[in-house]
Amino acid sequence: MRTIAIMNQKGGVGKTTSSVNLSAGLARAGHKVCLIDLDPQAHSSLHLGIEVSGGMNCVYSVFAGEQRLSQVKQLVNSHLWVVPASLDLAATELELVDAQGRELVLRQAIATLAKEQQFDFVILDCPPSLGVLTINALTAADEVIIPLQPHFFALQGLSKLLETTALIKRRLNRALQVSGIILCLYETGTRLAADVTDDLNNFLTGSDPQAPWSKARVFAARIRRNIKLAEAPSFGQSIFEYAPNSAGASDYGRLVEEVVALGQKATVTATPAVSVAEVAPVIAMPSADLGISQNAA
Ligand SMILES: Nc1ncnc2c1ncn2[C@@H]1O[C@H](COP(=O)(O)OP(=O)(O)OP(=O)(O)O)[C@@H](O)[C@H]1O
Ligand SMILES: [Mg+2]
Repeated sequence: MRTIAIMNQKGGVGKTTSSVNLSAGLARAGHKVCLIDLDPQAHSSLHLGIEVSGGMNCVYSVFAGEQRLSQVKQLVNSHLWVVPASLDLAATELELVDAQGRELVLRQAIATLAKEQQFDFVILDCPPSLGVLTINALTAADEVIIPLQPHFFALQGLSKLLETTALIKRRLNRALQVSGIILCLYETGTRLAADVTDDLNNFLTGSDPQAPWSKARVFAARIRRNIKLAEAPSFGQSIFEYAPNSAGASDYGRLVEEVVALGQKATVTATPAVSVAEVAPVIAMPSADLGISQNAA
């Protein structure tokens, strides 16, 4: 099972569009996928036609310790399950602030889920912040995929994001790797998009071999700006159902192939167990001391 966090603290860069269409594309290819919506905006859930009100039967009640992931997941398509979110999830950030082991809740919930049902992929759609929900995702994940809109300011936010993955890798999740960057809302033929892509490739090539992003690549599948991708959520469908012949379906189809191929190349490394002694000092620290700011732009 590969657990992949789709993360970028910047808003509107294509996290949800990528989470939903990557999950749907993997499921279409016959992989069993569980998409967990970690954003109180519940955009992934709505994109796939699921609306939950209140805190029960959604990921909020898992964080509250009231239900297990297996009890709240819903089958939306052959091989594709969704654990929905609702606005109540916004309260989780506050409720977990002083809780013991607050960074580990999702990791433990996913471990329990894996014992109950076998999945090939668990995809985590993160909110646009570096708060406790995103930290839970990074602590639970084996891999991080970063959707990024290629423009100048995107690179500034990226260094903060990568610092956070390095910190989580050091303190909470030694197996964490950034597997790649997806260029979303890509404007083909523009100079800026090409320059940003070159800068990213140069940065990744020269990175420290110990860094969690040392094996990351810019995915060859560029997700072009395509109106069908923006229309699909209002029909509660992935791009593969809504517009199977669109540029969006073709771009996400190629991304699915690349993501699957990465798993075939990777050597299987079990996540080393994290000792309580190691984790306790991190848990005791408020987020600010970790150098992680809420809603960093
Ligand atoms: N390739 C694309 N072409 C056209 N529209 C797109 C594309 N990718 C995403 N969009 C649209 O851009 C908006 C933002 O995308 P999305 O919701 O995936 O970003 P996000 O990073 O999840 O946002 P948030 O930070 O709010 O969670 C949405 O309206 C979406 O439909
Ligand atoms: Mg989103």
